[in-house]
Amino acid sequence: MTGDAHSELLAEVLSRYERSPNPRLREITEAAIRHLHAFAEEVNLQRDEWFAGIDFLTATGQLCDGNRQEFILLSDTLGLSSLVEMLTHDGVEGSTENTVLGPFYVPGSPARAKGESMLVDPDDGDRVVIRGTVRDIDGQPIAGAVLDCWQNATAGFYAVQQPDEQSPENLRGIYTTDPDGSYEIRTVRPVPYPIPSDGPAGDLLKAHGRNWMRPGHTHMWVRADGCKELITHVFDEETEHLRDDAVFGVRDSLVRRFEPDDAGELATTFDIVLDRA
Ligand code: BEZ
Ligand code: FE
Repeated sequence: MTGDAHSELLAEVLSRYERSPNPRLREITEAAIRHLHAFAEEVNLQRDEWFAGIDFLTATGQLCDGNRQEFILLSDTLGLSSLVEMLTHDGVEGSTENTVLGPFYVPGSPARAKGESMLVDPDDGDRVVIRGTVRDIDGQPIAGAVLDCWQNATAGFYAVQQPDEQSPENLRGIYTTDPDGSYEIRTVRPVPYPIPSDGPAGDLLKAHGRNWMRPGHTHMWVRADGCKELITHVFDEETEHLRDDAVFGVRDSLVRRFEPDDAGELATTFDIVLDRA
């Protein structure tokens, strides 16, 4: 078949969407078709390779259930989730950057008082403090903003990954800002950890000699009335894998150094600016 025949086929396929009643769905579907055809043409995709791709996607779907979302993990490791985060954050100057949600968020974390530790179980990691102020884009402190936080233990895993070893509420907590917008979280220093690599997404990383580690970070999901939700991380400046995060989630603006504060605690400041809703 010639290039002309390929173009005719593509035009014929696209023409079937002309009467679609949903303009956004049509835009997305047509773009996906155009890019899929261009991709197959670029690599001269052969039938056995197409089958291998179908098998790969089938295995990815078969691993998904209420607890495991292998398609999101695949999207994460291809950088697609990170790109979608960049596109979703409309980049109002000065607002805190967002990054990937990840699979280990569990709703319903315990409410914690200002300064309380999220650490519930024994852990020999360094104790750290993350403190700051939540403000709106005009610089006004936000009272009552909610910071839903979660991170891994020094063993490298989140509580939800180790139901037999960790208490369900270990290293999770919901903090609320004071009238001056301030918050304070006590926790352990987050450590680098492996993303789940025992499925098709991990197989693809291994087939390409890529690593499946993430740099140490604490997750935050910040909500306040009248503001856009912010899903973000605080990264430790001294952690490994800042430059080769398996899921491309690192943003320079989210990296912080932990240093002894006046009370001798290892602490960092992470001020947050939320976009208007
Ligand atoms: C996480 O940070 O928890 C995470 C994000 C993407 C994939 C796996 C883990
Ligand atoms: Fe994480």
